[in-house]
Amino acid sequence: MRIVLAEPEKGGLAATWSDGTTSFWPAIWLRDQCACPQCRHPSGQRLFEIVDLPEQPQIERIAMQTDGNLRVTWKGEEHVSTYLAAFLYEHNLKTPPAAPIRLWGADLADLPEGDWPAVARDPESELRWLESYHKHGFGLLRNVPVRPGMVAEVGDRLGFVRTTNYGKLFDVISVPDPNNLANTALGLGVHSDNPYRDPTPGVQLLHCLVSDAPGGDSLLVDGFAGAEQLRQWAPEQFELLTRVPANFRFADKDADLQTRTPLISVDFEGRLTAVHFNNRSFAGIDVPVELVEPWYEAYRNFAQILKQPERELIFRLAPGDLLVMQNERALHGRTAFDANLGRRHLQGCYVDKDGLESRMRVLRRQVAKAQAAAQ
Ligand code: OGA
Ligand code: ZN
Ligand code: ZN
Repeated sequence: MRIVLAEPEKGGLAATWSDGTTSFWPAIWLRDQCACPQCRHPSGQRLFEIVDLPEQPQIERIAMQTDGNLRVTWKGEEHVSTYLAAFLYEHNLKTPPAAPIRLWGADLADLPEGDWPAVARDPESELRWLESYHKHGFGLLRNVPVRPGMVAEVGDRLGFVRTTNYGKLFDVISVPDPNNLANTALGLGVHSDNPYRDPTPGVQLLHCLVSDAPGGDSLLVDGFAGAEQLRQWAPEQFELLTRVPANFRFADKDADLQTRTPLISVDFEGRLTAVHFNNRSFAGIDVPVELVEPWYEAYRNFAQILKQPERELIFRLAPGDLLVMQNERALHGRTAFDANLGRRHLQGCYVDKDGLESRMRVLRRQVAKAQAAAQ
């Protein structure tokens, strides 16, 4: 998009884009974003502090350069700033870009999937897979070598594995006397893993090594789609779940992990940022008495929404399949399986969410650069 007009306007800079839309940036915002060599180290890091800037920077002059970028001369400062049109477009404060996510239900036709050997080898394939994972809050990788420990290798390749009291990775396998229902043959309702940790793991990986037992199909529900449904049907219940914290706990002989967090989190504009839902480790609420019944009513409704069959993706992981999920969005579960009639063995690990996002941005840069060079 090109800037066709740029002029000073009460306390800032107003611009009109080639599509007719307009933008406005307050002077202090622009002055703080100056990227000149006095303001930024070659690393890109800022060299001045906010207290070094004039409280009310004044724009003296704005000039459009032949390349379409803007030059701003500041009054009383002997300072000139250049702003790339692309940068300004990306930071259009009047109409912030919509969140690049897509809500889904059981009818999601194409699973966001990728072929691991291609993803591991080719940056463009990896980027395509990461974009799809990011949009849906989960992604499947096929043809991952069926080798114990592989899940952590993939985790370290996409981001950084976070070691917990379960180790660098953990086995999901039916064992006698387990400390966690995951290690039985019981079905598991959809949940976020480990909401009793602070922070809750951002991403969970589950790699299927063996799947011979009848049952044990995987379930996935878009927690964000469920939360939006609650917001639509019962806004006051939605609000209660964003405000009132629930307790989560996991305790065995070595650990006693406890947190207090709302089931639904939103940012300052009301956009969903996280869902924490886990029936097994939910440990009640400790809140003023008058909030208890309304909260439980909201909790029940939210749980009912998440149980609607039209929300539930059901598929079967085969050996070599690896599921990567945004743990605070894509809620996962499984149907029961019969451990007497066959084996089932998954391995899992946790990765921080920011690592995958960083990887995606780095790949976007790399791929754009390669495409520009090829032209
Ligand atoms: C888990 C889990 C699902 C499965 O271990 O956290 O939810 O398919 N497992 O066994
Ligand atoms: Zn500067
Ligand atoms: Zn789980």
